Amino acid sequence: MNKIQVALLGLGTVGKGVYHHLHTHQRIIERELGVSIEIAVIVVKHPEKHHDFAGEAILTSNFQVVLDNPKIAIVFEAIIGKEPAFTYLTKSIQAGKHVITANKEMFAYHGNELVKLANANHVRVGYEATTAGGIPIIQTLKQLFQVNQIRKITGILNGTSNYILTEMRENRLSLDEALQQAQYLGYAEEDPTNDIEGYDAFYKLMILCQLLYDRQPEWTSVKRRGISAITLEDILAQYSQGKRIKHLASVEIIDNQIEASVEPVALASNHPLFAIEGVDNAIVLEGDIVGKVTLSGPGAGSFPTASAMIEDLAIIIRSLKGSNEASRLIESASN
Ligand code: HSE
Repeated sequence: MNKIQVALLGLGTVGKGVYHHLHTHQRIIERELGVSIEIAVIVVKHPEKHHDFAGEAILTSNFQVVLDNPKIAIVFEAIIGKEPAFTYLTKSIQAGKHVITANKEMFAYHGNELVKLANANHVRVGYEATTAGGIPIIQTLKQLFQVNQIRKITGILNGTSNYILTEMRENRLSLDEALQQAQYLGYAEEDPTNDIEGYDAFYKLMILCQLLYDRQPEWTSVKRRGISAITLEDILAQYSQGKRIKHLASVEIIDNQIEASVEPVALASNHPLFAIEGVDNAIVLEGDIVGKVTLSGPGAGSFPTASAMIEDLAIIIRSLKGSNEASRLIESASN
C-alpha cells in the first residue's frame, strides 16, 4: 500500500479528533484513496502532556522537524489564534506542503494571502473546517455554486451560542450554566469570549465573504454583537410570543456594497433557522437561479471538525493522483 506522511499541529479537541479518525478510518481511506496515512510528526506546545496520545509519531514542540522532513506532504493545523499558525502554514506552503486548517481567526485575517501563496507554490489549502463545523459549506460554494449569484447569506455559524440559547430556553439555565456545559462538551473555544461576543461567527462570515465575493467588508463597518448580554428573561419573553432568539450572521450585497452583521435576532416560527437547535449550525443561501437553499448540520465539536479536515485530506489526495508531485509525496510500497 502506498503511503502519505502527514503532520498534525495541535492536539486539542480538534487535533485529537483528526488523530482519532485518521486511525479509525484508515481502512476506508486506503480503500477509497489507495494510500495509507502515517502521522509522522505531531507539534504541540507541551509534548510532555501528550505522550499517551502520540503513538508512533514524533512528538515535538519544534515545528522545524516538519519542515526538515520532505516526505511530509500534508500539514493539518488545529491550533488557536493567528500565531504561530500563520507562520507555520506559510512555511509549510513554501516548502511545497499542502495544508489543511481549522483556524477561523487566522484564516479570516490571512486566508487570502495563504491561498495566493499556495497557488504560487502549486499546493492546496483546505479550510472546510474553519466555517460551520461539519457542514460542507466551502466545497458547496466552490464546486456547486459556480454560476449562481449569491446575493444573500444568513447563517447560524457559532455552535456554542446556539447550544447556549437552546439550553437556556429548554432547561431554564443561566447563560453561565449553559456555557459551562458547552465547554465541557468541547464546543466552546478555550477562551469562550470569541464565541459569546460574536467574534467566532464574525470570522466565519468574513471567510465566506472572501470566498464568495473575493473581498471582505471593512471589519469596523460590520455590526458585531454576541449573546453575552442575553438573559433567560429575554429568551422567555420571546418564547411566550412563539419566537426563538438565534445568533445570526448575515451578509447581503446592496448597491455593490457588502452589508454584514452578526447579532442575536428573535425569529418567528416560519423562519428557516427557527428550528436549528443545540450545537447545529445552518446557512441559508439565496442564489439568483436556484432560490433559497438551507444547509444544516453539527457546527462544533471534535468529530464534525475532524470530519471536515479529513474530507479536505481526501480532496487533496485525489488531486495528487497522476500529478507530477505524486512521486515526491506518495511513498510507494517498495520504498
Ligand atoms: N467554538 C466554535 C463554535 C467551534 O462553537 O462554533 C467551531 O468552530
